[in-house]
Amino acid sequence: AKADIGLIGLGTMGSALALNIAEKGFKVAVWNRTTATTHEFAREAGALAANIVATETLEDLVAAIDGPRAIILMVPAGAPVDQQIAALDPHLDPDDMVIDAGNANFRDTIRRMTELSRPFLGIGVSGGEDGARHGPAIMGGGDPAHWARVEPILIAIAAKFEGSPCANLMGENGAGHFVKAVHNGIEYADMQLIAEVYGIMRDGLSMAAPEIGKRFLQWDEGRLSSYLIETSAAVACAHDEATDGPLLDVIVDAAGQKGTGRWTAIEAQHLGTPIPVIEAAVAARNMSAQRPLRADLAERFGGVDTLDISVETLEAALTCGKILCYAQGFDMLRAAAVAFEWSLKPEVIARNWRAGCIIRSAMLDDMAAAFEAAPETTLMAAPYFADILTETIGALRATVIAANGAGLPVPAMSAALAYFDTMRQARGTANMIQGQRDYFGLHGFVRVDSGAMDQHGPWADD
Ligand code: 6PG
Repeated sequence: AKADIGLIGLGTMGSALALNIAEKGFKVAVWNRTTATTHEFAREAGALAANIVATETLEDLVAAIDGPRAIILMVPAGAPVDQQIAALDPHLDPDDMVIDAGNANFRDTIRRMTELSRPFLGIGVSGGEDGARHGPAIMGGGDPAHWARVEPILIAIAAKFEGSPCANLMGENGAGHFVKAVHNGIEYADMQLIAEVYGIMRDGLSMAAPEIGKRFLQWDEGRLSSYLIETSAAVACAHDEATDGPLLDVIVDAAGQKGTGRWTAIEAQHLGTPIPVIEAAVAARNMSAQRPLRADLAERFGGVDTLDISVETLEAALTCGKILCYAQGFDMLRAAAVAFEWSLKPEVIARNWRAGCIIRSAMLDDMAAAFEAAPETTLMAAPYFADILTETIGALRATVIAANGAGLPVPAMSAALAYFDTMRQARGTANMIQGQRDYFGLHGFVRVDSGAMDQHGPWADD
């Protein structure tokens, strides 16, 4: 029998995804630019090899798949995707479908869908190698009829949260890749918030890495229970043989990034939607990369004080910051749904993120419930989360104050607090901005008392 689906690109993610598909009982035809990789992959597939068809040319790949075909691309995002599509396209029938499962920029996905006169899906896949192998979260974008053609396979390979599969069509055209980008923006922010708390414990409370790891393990039992806390605990507890000390202490403090978090920040600016915690996380990675400069400036301005704060307060502060960051991410998704005319549903997105993906957490189940009850409401105003914010905002404030007092940077937590304080201020300070704009540019302002528009100050007469 012919293969049920094809897959191009046997890198880490592609290989894992192909094995996952084969394991779920589907026959998958695979092709890789380097043929040796394809054969090595098939050789190492063990019992799963029965469901894998290794092919050496694109013609062979296409011939091995049952029509109308579906072929998953798992190649590096950007130009390689366009090159791969261009090479593959001449071999395909008009009804054959291409599925880009890489971390594409959603604008590229929309362009490809418009350029290509064939079914095309852009799907975001989260969960790293392990997720791809045993159950990722899959965020689909495209035509529902096209999605339906591969849905049984995607559902079979996806992570399940209490039996419900984390593979859903998020919306039209680039929606899947957009949702994946926001997922990664939230991922950056979640990681940064944890890193800041780690910094306070390390530099402000003089705690050793394994001790910090133990705290994270405790937190993983509570409200903060999540894959990223679990990950952070594992990282903090890891031992380095060479130095006979914590591994964390020998890891260079400059963060890499492939761009998805940055895209989220850029798109938020296009949409005019505030996501300051995510922006702070992207900026923090950029600052971390300036290592030589930081070393220089440390000599000039260095010196951090210890501080006095309980680990319980830090846990509550992290909880609070996390809710505020997710509130921003979901608000951005809602703004994008309007701007791009996508039928994004926050409750479906939250449900889809409950298992398989990097940001999976206990809290996402509560978020799904909150959005089911009120899809249009910001998380800050959802009763369950509003109560937690009320309970924990004091801890976030105390943490930011203590860190600022000691000279410890907490950019994401500070951004979360400033966001909260800004959004709960009925009378803000932009009246000054409007006055300034009118003074130097006659841009006009609205009066509070009469509601009259296009008003000017006395300077307009000069
Ligand atoms: C996931 C991850 C995954 C990966 C990205 C982000 O959801 O599985 O987000 O896509 O970790 O490459 O990584 P950077 O930190 O390199 O931008």
